[in-house]
Amino acid sequence: MVSSKRRQSGHEEHLELGDGRHVKLLDVLGKGAFATVHRGLMCSEHGVRRSVAVKLFSAVSSDEADLVLRTLARTTRRVACIDHPNVAGVYECGERRGQPFVVSELVAGVSLAKLQEAHASRQRRIPLDLALFIAAEVAEGLAGARVARDHEGVQLGVVHHALSSRDVLLSWRGEVKVSDFETSMSRVATSSIRSLRGVANRAATMAPEVARGQEADARSDVFSFGVLLRELLVGPRFPSVLTNSEAIRLAREGYVQPMTFQPHLPQGVDAVLSRALEVDPEARYPNACALAFDLRRVVLGMGVGDGRYFLRKALEREWSQYAEEITTPRFIAPAANDEEGYEPYDGELVAIDPREKRRR
Ligand SMILES: Nc1ncnc2c1ncn2[C@@H]1O[C@H](COP(=O)(O)OP(=O)(O)O)[C@@H](O)[C@H]1O
Ligand SMILES: [Mg+2]
Repeated sequence: MVSSKRRQSGHEEHLELGDGRHVKLLDVLGKGAFATVHRGLMCSEHGVRRSVAVKLFSAVSSDEADLVLRTLARTTRRVACIDHPNVAGVYECGERRGQPFVVSELVAGVSLAKLQEAHASRQRRIPLDLALFIAAEVAEGLAGARVARDHEGVQLGVVHHALSSRDVLLSWRGEVKVSDFETSMSRVATSSIRSLRGVANRAATMAPEVARGQEADARSDVFSFGVLLRELLVGPRFPSVLTNSEAIRLAREGYVQPMTFQPHLPQGVDAVLSRALEVDPEARYPNACALAFDLRRVVLGMGVGDGRYFLRKALEREWSQYAEEITTPRFIAPAANDEEGYEPYDGELVAIDPREKRRR
């Protein structure tokens, strides 16, 4: 684990990565229960810069810090080996004054949860073919993680552990990328996550055996995926008003509420859903590869192919101005000074966030 110091210059914050590298923290992209995600600029001493996402967790207590950082480093090393178009790549991790952080691929767009909310606010659902396209991509991302190998060729069998629609990122370009593999706070073992609150928040997508305290495995991811797909197609797993302990009890039972909304689900899709949502892990798909294969077969049979164009259009409909601006970021270069050769980049990234622009 590389240690990181905080460098403050003006309003800018830097996280040190070691080897002459650092990440400059830019605007906030979103907040989760345990972390704030910033847009960042990863810089090397050779002037190589890359836009990234930086997930900065809440500070952990000093007696937990070592364990948390070791866990985070171990999982980051594993997840960094996943090279798949449906997985948001992970580059680095570190710690700043007790705050663990992870540096990963920037997926400029919105989460699937946001797209669902946008449709729900108009009493609508994401169209079946688009939902199936997204789901098939998610399944392939999970499958990609399963078959990922380290640099010695050892298959790592990475599982997500806490998949939900908030971890599925949809880019303005129409890509679908699963984020937060093994780095979800459920893996970063602090007392706050082991608390009832932390568990209950995630209970709705949790496989029954995980809710009962067993270690998640490839089959638990299959169950969580089933919940996600079902939620997209027919509605939420649990009733909306539940106490924490009720949510956990239902999660342990593997409860799935009767369909609140019933489109005419094609038989093949129904079969995939039922097998993914089996309470007994033995009866489920053994892993995401088997699931992804089956789902893709069904989905292709329905004539749903590459849906990136339709996804792009669906996102543009909801967030047109944002999508347009973010796909064409402009760099304002510093005052030109070519005579001295290399000029360190110190420009400003603009026109990224229209909300920001409106404030100016
Ligand atoms: N790699 C990423 N690229 C772009 N935005 C991201 C990335 N990861 C997370 N975000 C944004 O930050 C928000 C908060 O993320 P996170 O802390 O993982 O919480 P949660 O997954 O519970 O929403 C997400 O909803 C998403 O909008
Ligand atoms: Mg997340």
